Amino acid sequence: MAEKQHDLVVIGAGPGGYVAAIRAAQLGLDTACIDKEPRLGGTCLRVGCIPSKALLESSHKYHEIHAGLEKHGIKTGKVSLDLEAMLAHKDEVVVSLTDGIAGLFEKNKITRYQGTGRLEGQGKVVVEGEDQATLTAKHVLIATGSASATLPGVELDGELIGDSTTALSYPEVPGHLVVIGAGYIGLELGSVWKRLGAEVTVVEYLDRILPGTDHEIAREAQKLLKRQGLKFVLKAKVTGVKKQKQGAVVQIEGKDPLEADRVLVAVGRKPYTEGLGLEAVGIELDERGRIPVDEHFRTSAEGVYAIGDVIAGPMLAHKAEEEGVACVERIATGWGHVDPDTIPGVCYTDPEIAGVGKTEEQLEEEGTPYRKGVFFFRANSRARSIDQIDGRVKILAHEETDRVLGVHMIGPDAGHLIAEAVAAMAFGASSEDIARVCHAHPTLSETVKEAALAVDGRPIHA
Ligand code: NAI
Repeated sequence: MAEKQHDLVVIGAGPGGYVAAIRAAQLGLDTACIDKEPRLGGTCLRVGCIPSKALLESSHKYHEIHAGLEKHGIKTGKVSLDLEAMLAHKDEVVVSLTDGIAGLFEKNKITRYQGTGRLEGQGKVVVEGEDQATLTAKHVLIATGSASATLPGVELDGELIGDSTTALSYPEVPGHLVVIGAGYIGLELGSVWKRLGAEVTVVEYLDRILPGTDHEIAREAQKLLKRQGLKFVLKAKVTGVKKQKQGAVVQIEGKDPLEADRVLVAVGRKPYTEGLGLEAVGIELDERGRIPVDEHFRTSAEGVYAIGDVIAGPMLAHKAEEEGVACVERIATGWGHVDPDTIPGVCYTDPEIAGVGKTEEQLEEEGTPYRKGVFFFRANSRARSIDQIDGRVKILAHEETDRVLGVHMIGPDAGHLIAEAVAAMAFGASSEDIARVCHAHPTLSETVKEAALAVDGRPIHA
């Protein structure tokens, strides 16, 4: 077996791992990256964020032609769905982006190993698979991400009963799709198949959708998604899914079972550490299967670091990227930092849902005094021009200092609009700061300025 030495070995080429590898190479470290898949980019690029966004866009166009253009004076003829072509387009997007990362690896002279990486002692990683090698390195970064969580009584067959990966490639539009879990995945992929013509029922254990999202915003999301035809069964614990001759039956504690043509299990994800050899370096997982790290992403083992979905915090690609960069910058320069309070979350439904910082519930629970400003998209001229008037922006600022503590929104382009709030919070802005910044007119971003003005009770257009 080939023996190779590097300064840094990154295990996992998802957004956390591949970005960390590029940054490390930029900083002059001889860097290697191991991934068992032939395509770089991890779950996010291959079977997660990116393909789902391609399908969200395609299904949105299809739905818009059916339901949204007459008002604009556009009449269309018969429109039909070529699902195969839509799925092929999604696959092309994935290929082009994963190829792009392979190109970036070459450009940055990162050594790539295809195979499974396993720790075999301090500074030693064995690669098994397509490439076989024994690597030694002063620094090893674990960025192995997460895998779909399963439910007791539910066996995934990767066809009728599947996870998000299966739901990205159904060969036909299901008659009735039952989605288990009203989190990001359930709502995004539920929206895709609803727009393409499926009946979609989302079954959620809690009494609300989108746990963790500001409740006022989540309530509005549920109302708007319901209007689009998604059905919700809340306070419903799925206890099993049984395959039938045709389709499946979803069993719910204390409620009528649901017949489904396909079932999407979207009940969260769990850290992926299988076969990593953590025991060889004495790393013990916490009670939720995560790798414990300190504020510099150091594990209990000398020279071994971990970032992204395998450690605590939200399982989001951009959180993993930030952590990867901070971790390798600290290794190479002695300095690297991530602010966990300014990591945004975006759910790409229509309209989009986005938030950063504390929710109103969290502030209440902590007893932090706050003022709140809300502005509705229906009072924004651009939202009216593009006929997307649903939603609101809400800014929460400290009652005494006016420092912005949280910004939450649902509305057109919320995923882009939240960037301003993140930047403002990263600079420690007050709501008055945002209110005094000039926002171009007519743009959707004026809703953020107006919400900031509303914190002080002086919005112009409300
Ligand atoms: P999630 O944790 O967001 O939601 C799972 C939902 O399933 C919860 O509401 C939970 O209460 C419910 N649930 C659990 N057990 C249940 C049962 N027995 N019966 C009924 N409901 C049950 O997880 P999700 O949507 O699977 O996403 C996984 C991860 O991927 C999340 O961390 C999410 O942040 C991330 N992700 C992020 C996206 C984005 O940034 N746009 C898109 C997709 C996923």
